[in-house]
Amino acid sequence: MIRIYYANDYEAMSRRAATFIAAQVLAKPDSVLGLATGSSPVGMYAELGRMCAAGEITFSRVHTVNLDEYYGLSPEHPQSYRYFMEKNFFSKIDIPAANTNLPDGKNPSPAAECARYDALIESLGGIDLQLLGIGHNGHIGFNEPADAFVPGTNCVDLTADTIEMNSRFFASADEVPKRALTMGIRAIMQAKKILMVVNGENKSQILERAFFGPVTPAVPASILQLHPDVVVCADAPAMAILAAKHPEAVIR
Ligand code: F6R
Repeated sequence: MIRIYYANDYEAMSRRAATFIAAQVLAKPDSVLGLATGSSPVGMYAELGRMCAAGEITFSRVHTVNLDEYYGLSPEHPQSYRYFMEKNFFSKIDIPAANTNLPDGKNPSPAAECARYDALIESLGGIDLQLLGIGHNGHIGFNEPADAFVPGTNCVDLTADTIEMNSRFFASADEVPKRALTMGIRAIMQAKKILMVVNGENKSQILERAFFGPVTPAVPASILQLHPDVVVCADAPAMAILAAKHPEAVIR
């Protein structure tokens, strides 16, 4: 089941998404949260940091597993997802460092790292709530459009486009990662709840396709239509097409 919540702007979207995470952690203080990087959840992380600082919520018993990490980047690299998470979230809340997990981009064996990560998720008892963003092409994590859904954590080759887009963040072209480790579709679909945050007009087309088009690995996020508990928090620009075509599906 999918519930789509309309927010006027990015701030309102972020507050609403933070409320869902807070409710999860209040109901189950030892929750396993699956987390994402990217621009969409930054405001939500800031709001959760504020709530934690204000004593409204504690993450002291929470465990986290992030969706993805660049292969080849150390945790200290400013473009690594570990660095992003420390800066935007972990440093702002009271979670023990040992409870936070991302794929290890420095493991010499990608295959061993993928197996380790899947075993870790299993040993935590699976994910209670998985946070997702969505790519313009419908990707979730680094699960890109393909001929089939990939179940387990896997190491993907980044497309030439993605490498090109990322190069602006790096000192030299050589530094741009060519591969990434990503949680697969199984762990995402086995999460008890999914929370997706989406903002910006440039996501409006893919948002409508993902939730109202056919379920297909050509749009990886479309598989979420088969998940029993999905909440989407989207701002007005991201919702433009969806709200016009399916007004009955939008919760205001
Ligand atoms: C990040 C991730 C990606 C992003 C997606 C949207 O960990 O898994 O799938 O969620 O690329 O990114 P933004 O939020 O920057 O538009």
